[in-house]
Amino acid sequence: MTDQLISLPTAERDDAAVAAPSPWWRDAVIYQIYPRSFADSDGDGIGDLPGIRSRLPYLRELGVDAVWLSPFYASPQADAGYDVADYRMVDPMFGTLDDARGLIGDAHDLGIRVIVDLVPNHSSDQHEWFRRAITEGPGSPHRGRYHFRAGQGEHGELPPNNWKSIFGGPAWTRTTDPDGTPGDWYLHLFAPEQPDFNWEHPAVADEFRTILRFWLDLGVDGFRIDVAHGMVKAEGLPDVDDSVEWHLLDAGVNPCFDRDGVHEIYRSWRRILDEYPGERIAVAEAWAPTHERVANYVRPDELHQAFNFSYLGTEWDATAQRKVIDDSLEAMGKVGAPATWTLSNHDVVRHTTRMLQPNDGDEVAGRRPIDVDPAAGLRRARAATLLLLALPGSAYLYQGEELGLPEVVDLPPEVRQDPAFHRANGQDGYRDGCRVPIPWGGDEAPYGFGPAGGRSWLPQPDSWAQLSVAAQQGRPGSTLELYRAALALRRSDPALGSGKNLTWREAPEGLLVFDRTPHFRCTVNMTAEPIRIAMPGKALLTSGPVELDGAEVEIPADTTIWWAV
Ligand code: GLC
Repeated sequence: MTDQLISLPTAERDDAAVAAPSPWWRDAVIYQIYPRSFADSDGDGIGDLPGIRSRLPYLRELGVDAVWLSPFYASPQADAGYDVADYRMVDPMFGTLDDARGLIGDAHDLGIRVIVDLVPNHSSDQHEWFRRAITEGPGSPHRGRYHFRAGQGEHGELPPNNWKSIFGGPAWTRTTDPDGTPGDWYLHLFAPEQPDFNWEHPAVADEFRTILRFWLDLGVDGFRIDVAHGMVKAEGLPDVDDSVEWHLLDAGVNPCFDRDGVHEIYRSWRRILDEYPGERIAVAEAWAPTHERVANYVRPDELHQAFNFSYLGTEWDATAQRKVIDDSLEAMGKVGAPATWTLSNHDVVRHTTRMLQPNDGDEVAGRRPIDVDPAAGLRRARAATLLLLALPGSAYLYQGEELGLPEVVDLPPEVRQDPAFHRANGQDGYRDGCRVPIPWGGDEAPYGFGPAGGRSWLPQPDSWAQLSVAAQQGRPGSTLELYRAALALRRSDPALGSGKNLTWREAPEGLLVFDRTPHFRCTVNMTAEPIRIAMPGKALLTSGPVELDGAEVEIPADTTIWWAV
């Protein structure tokens, strides 16, 4: 029985079939770091840039091509840094600009590229523009950079329209004028501490172009664009039909999301990115209802990649998975962009837990998790990851998934910090459970996340001692070693990442079988029963224990095998 790396592929490579080296990002494995939860150098319980810097060798060994850092900018942290007060400053909680420079330099020395988060839909209410818009009162020129409106009703006591915040409650908050009387309202699609910019105002567009240049000059390799389908709102900010649910995915019926005008912004950004050497990129967090609408963001003169949320939200079912893979490849292929694949991030239930939960087709961000059998969840998650890493295109991993961390489902309400949790009275906003700090080693919390005896901003479960990096390192069969082996194979085998093709093979129901030219095959058993097939070739890697002697192989439930054929 084995569930480890069996051998590197030995099959002859057909050099003609190996495409010319493509830009690094087309098949990159990009690892998301959530800075406050990755590594804490100073013991304040919150991760920081020096902490990340100290762990870069780990990421090099893991075998990722790039890291994407969630926001570390100056911020009051009303939404864990997605409320930016100063786009050119590092929050002291995370370090300094010199730390950022050092981190980028160290990462580059190790061959790791660095992508930073850009939050252009809204700022913090503590951003200088917004503060001035408030303190200077209704006549302030800064008001035009946000959406300020008079209220409805006799005394302006009702919001200007019926839009709702994604985090619950109305999307408008009333201001108080400098003389103490109730004033205009401002729009915030997320928390009240996150006022939406008015992208019709030229100063907003100019400012973001200079912010892009600021970070590009500092050496970053790209940007992850937060709420990339936001920014442009329907003219006149019209009311919506009250029956419209107000979700990130409501593009089409929602007057704030996925408006055609947003693409003009990305065309201008692409020109800036292309001015810099070394293939600097941008990846869109664009929630849109169809693959085609998502593909609009990655047309040749726009952004480079877009997250594939449809894939993330697809149930563990062979027909559904095959369809989402085909649809993604087709839509991205039409615009010449690589597909992307991701299963976890800082907004969704970790896939170790989520993939065992009923999928009601609802939006995945902030969904309430339920407890599942951890062993069964891990088995399925490992199989899903090997499938993901075998697909053509770029893969996004979220910190801790390489340790098989489950969602922490039992955080008490008083430690939860997701603003949506509190605004929606606990009915939504369950994003803290995937943000619990990483266990690096040791027998006691914070398990090496910070100095011994220190704290962590969210409590770590006791069971995480066994899941730490130190506990898994070098242990045959551990999830960490599985990820390392998979990433090493993916790097060394031209049939994988950079290979562009995918050919489905006929297979028994519930088994997905596809080939990547010239010699790679992936088999995934998505059923609850073992499936027996003729041995297709030489096994390279398996997501769980498999008996590999004989002319046939029995693929256990929820198991993926990589083969050289
Ligand atoms: C994105 C981020 C999420 C944040 C929201 C508002 O969806 O991923 O964490 O809360 O935007 O900025």
